[in-house]
Amino acid sequence: MKAEILKMLRESKEYVSGQQLCERLQVSRTAVWKVIKQLENEGYQIEAVRNRGYRIVECPDVLSQEEIESLMQTECMGRHVIYYEETDSTNTRIKHLAEQGKKHGTLAVADRQNSGKGRRGRSWESPLGENIYMSLLLRPTMEPSKAPMLTLVMAYSAAMAIREQEGLEVGIKWPNDLVIGTKKICGILTEMSAEIDYINYVVIGVGINVNMQSFPEELCEKATSLRVEKESPIKRSALIACIMKKFEENYERFAKEQNLKFLQEDYNRLLVSKEKEVRVLEPGGEYNAYALGINETGELLVRKEDGEEETVFAGEVSVRGIYGYI
Ligand code: BTN
Repeated sequence: MKAEILKMLRESKEYVSGQQLCERLQVSRTAVWKVIKQLENEGYQIEAVRNRGYRIVECPDVLSQEEIESLMQTECMGRHVIYYEETDSTNTRIKHLAEQGKKHGTLAVADRQNSGKGRRGRSWESPLGENIYMSLLLRPTMEPSKAPMLTLVMAYSAAMAIREQEGLEVGIKWPNDLVIGTKKICGILTEMSAEIDYINYVVIGVGINVNMQSFPEELCEKATSLRVEKESPIKRSALIACIMKKFEENYERFAKEQNLKFLQEDYNRLLVSKEKEVRVLEPGGEYNAYALGINETGELLVRKEDGEEETVFAGEVSVRGIYGYI
């Protein structure tokens, strides 16, 4: 009920009367009043005017199931939100939920992770109340070999959401880091449970440095946040809703076409290493090459120094700029 009241208040330009709320939700005036008081206690500023009703004046930067669901404008992705004030890792949580049969599109969101996981066994810095830590459960019907492309679909969707919602010049460091300038603002960790020819489920975990303003020493040079770059605070729930909206649109296309042709050009436009020299770090050795962009299955095409073109697979190699991270 709280999510619905929030949604009605948000969507109306006028005051919403107690009567309208009661009729729509089929509850008593007292029940509505109690929810309004709860919202005020959580930091929402709600103006109540006799004979007119309620109007939202200011929403705080809160993460809660109700806040996120009330902003969601999707059919499926993130329609069901599971919120944790603190958890180990939202990827771990959503994997358990998947095993319990939770639906495609379920989203786990946390305000803090005490065992946040990064790629390649690294940890992910996850302080309280500042950033976005979320994991989306997908049950795609496609070959397991196609699942890595989902990470690129999410990277592209999150980049577009941040660009549109916050007006920041976000780029993509292939395959799935988001950067501003030369610093990282978002990482994505995709995990999968599959049989040889069948996907049980995929978990896409997204960590975004949103309002964080101080970084551990080892990250200072490499990481930044949206707030630092924008020089103003950001509402996390609205950003989550916007990312889900973009992801849903792109996922539908991808699920139908099962390749990335539809976003290849746009993804490449955001690719920070495009037409730049990169260092490819393969398990068998390293070499310098010139990055040409992704192909329609999401691999990076590079031209080696001897002129030969090669396809680089995300799972196996990492790519650095020749002077550092970008
Ligand atoms: C990377 O190394 O760049 C990937 C980082 C992924 C972090 C996110 S935060 C939400 C989800 N839960 C985790 O434990 N990790 C991912």
